[in-house]
Amino acid sequence: MAIIEYKGFGGFRLSVDVLGDENDPAVLLLPEPGQGREVWRAAAEALVLSGRRVVNVEPRARAAEVGDIAAHVEDLRAILAQMGSRPVVATARRGGWVATQALAPDGAHLAAGLILVDMPVSDEAVASAPRLALPTLVVRGGFSPAECTAASDAFAAALPIGESADIEDRDLAFAVDRNEALLGQLLEFLERRQPREAMEFKAGSDPRTLRDAMGCFATGITIVTALDASGAPAGLTANSFTSVSLDPPLLLVCIANTSGTAPILRDAVHFGVNVLQIGQQPASNRFASRGGDRFANLPWAPGETGVPLLGGSLVSFECQRESLHEAGDHFILVGRVVRAQFEPHRDPLLYFRGKYRRLHFA
Ligand SMILES: Cc1cc2nc3c(=O)[nH]c(=O)nc-3n(C[C@H](O)[C@H](O)[C@H](O)COP(=O)(O)O)c2cc1C
Repeated sequence: MAIIEYKGFGGFRLSVDVLGDENDPAVLLLPEPGQGREVWRAAAEALVLSGRRVVNVEPRARAAEVGDIAAHVEDLRAILAQMGSRPVVATARRGGWVATQALAPDGAHLAAGLILVDMPVSDEAVASAPRLALPTLVVRGGFSPAECTAASDAFAAALPIGESADIEDRDLAFAVDRNEALLGQLLEFLERRQPREAMEFKAGSDPRTLRDAMGCFATGITIVTALDASGAPAGLTANSFTSVSLDPPLLLVCIANTSGTAPILRDAVHFGVNVLQIGQQPASNRFASRGGDRFANLPWAPGETGVPLLGGSLVSFECQRESLHEAGDHFILVGRVVRAQFEPHRDPLLYFRGKYRRLHFA
C-alpha cells in the first residue's frame, strides 16, 4: 500500500491510500465527511483481490470543515482532476452529497461511474441528480434495512433514468448478509461498467463505448468561431481539428448537426479556428456549455475577414470556406487558411480520454 498526497481545495493536503496494481481500473472510495478511510478498508481489500486499483481518500477532518460540503466537493474534484485515469467513485451516506455535487456538472469527464450507498436525501443532491450524466448505481439498505429507503426516493425520482446517465437502483432491504450483498453489487456494477478486459465496440453497440475508443486519440482543443447573420460572434469548442493540405492550405473541423452553432457555421463564408493554450481551459469549458454569453470578458477581436479571433491563443487560423461534407450526425467543414497568427512559446491545452491534459517533459 502506498500513501500519496493530493492537493485539495485551498491547497489543503489530502492523504490517500493507494492499493492494487496501477494497471488495473481504479475505484475511488470516498468516506462521508466526518469519517476516516478505515470505514472502507475491508471493501478496499476485497476490491483489490477482484482486480481493482483502489484509491481510499481521507477526507479533511477538522471540526469546522466537516460540515462544509462545498470544500469536500472541491477536494473530490481536485483529486479526480489529478488522477491519471477516470475511476468509478463509490461513497456512502452523506458522501453521496459530496459526490453528486462534484460530478453533476461534467462528471463523465472526471469519473467512469458513481456508486451511492444509502444516501440521505438533501435539496442539493436532488438538484444535482438531473445533471448526472455518468453510469450510476444507487444502493438502498446497504448498511441497514430501513436506511434511506424512503429518503432516496426523491433523489431516484430526479435522476435522468434512460437519458444521458445510465442509472441503476438496487434495494438490499431483504438481504441476508448485508456486507456480502453490498460488495456483490459493487463488483457486479464494476465488472459491467468498468471491465478489466480490453473494451470492445462493435457496430450497433452503444455510442458511449465508441466515444471512449475515439477518446484514446490524444488531441489539442480548438474554439471554432464565426459571425452569425446579425454580425454577432458565435463559437464552440471542438477537438475534431485536422490539418488537411499544405498546398493549397486546408484544414477541417467536424461539427455536430445538433449543436446550436452548426447553422451559423454552415452559412459562414469565413470561420476562425483558435487552437487553445493551457491557460484557456476556462474558455474551452465555456464554449462547450450551454447558456451565457461565451465571448463576455474574453479578449477577442475581429480578424481581417471579420471572424472573431481569441486573444492569447496558441494559433488563430482565419479560413475561407472551401467545402462542406455531410458525415453522419456531423458535417465536415473544410477551410482554406487565409491567415494564421501563432505564439509558439505557449504550451498547448490537450485532451485525452475525456480529460484535459498538459504536456509532460521527462
Ligand atoms: C474537449 C471537447 C471537444 C469537443 N469537440 C467537438 C467537436 O469536435 N465538434 C462538435 O460539434 N462538438 C464538440 N464538442 C461539443 C461542443 O463544444 C458542445 O456540444 C457545445 O455545447 C456546442 O455548443 P452549441 O450547441 O452552442 O453550438 C466538444 C466538447 C469538448 C469539451
